[in-house]
Parts: sequence; C-alpha cells; structure tokens
Amino acid sequence: MYSEKVMDHFTNPRNVGEIKNADGIGEVGNPKCGDIMKMYLKIEDGVITDVKFKTFGCGAAIATSSMATELVKGKTIEEALKVTNKRVAEELGGLPSAKLHCSLLAEQAIKAALLDYAKKNNIEIEELKDFD
Ligand code: FES
Ligand code: FES
Repeated sequence: MYSEKVMDHFTNPRNVGEIKNADGIGEVGNPKCGDIMKMYLKIEDGVITDVKFKTFGCGAAIATSSMATELVKGKTIEEALKVTNKRVAEELGGLPSAKLHCSLLAEQAIKAALLDYAKKNNIEIEELKDFD
C-alpha cells in the first residue's frame, strides 16, 4: 500500500524535534482525524537554515512531515511556499488516496510557520494573504 520512500521516511524520519528560539512556528490540526503537526523554522536572510517537526499522527503524516522538512531546508521563503501537498506526495512516490489529506498537514504547517515568521517581523508575504 505504501511506497518504499514512505516507509523509509516513516521508520527513519528526518528533522524530528523542536528548535529553541525558532523564527517561525506553525501548528496545524487535521479536522478529519484530529492529528496535529508542529513545524519550527530557523530563517536567516530569507533562507530556511534549519527546520524541525513534531507530529502526532499516522504513518503518512509522519512521512510527509519528514519529506516536507527536507524539501524546505536550505531553501528561500519563496521556494518553500511552492512546496505543496501534491509535491510532497509526489516526492514520496505517491500516497494512497485515503491518505492524501495527511500530506496537506505538512504544507499547511510550513505555511503557518512562515506566516508566524512574517507576523513577528512585520513582513507581508503575498502568497499567504488568504492563509490563516
Ligand atoms: Fe488519525 Fe490517521 S486518522 S492517524
Ligand atoms: Fe490523520 Fe493521516 S494525519 S490520518
């Protein structure tokens, strides 16, 4: 049912934990199942220099958080905004359709963390205008 990449990121998730003094923190919940994902970002000169996550959720949610952190690490804010749930699922070699909502958590957690960073620094991120 799950691709090898999903199993790999589930059994050996990357960037688990939290960042003290994170520049942006995003916490989102999945209304479908009540699961929670928290994302911490360290941002310097518009670049995500470090990222960590904590997820209370199913295997797919853990695998997508792990993959999402890898996709945004070392990237600019602009690039991180392009990491959609579709992209995360693709990078994982696909997800069963019943599990696609889990990958949405990862996209939303990154966006929530970027929005938190923007608010704290009085920056406006055009792409996040309707996100909240
Ligand atoms: Fe909650 Fe998937 S339904 S872990
Ligand atoms: Fe709850 Fe996957 S995040 S079922």
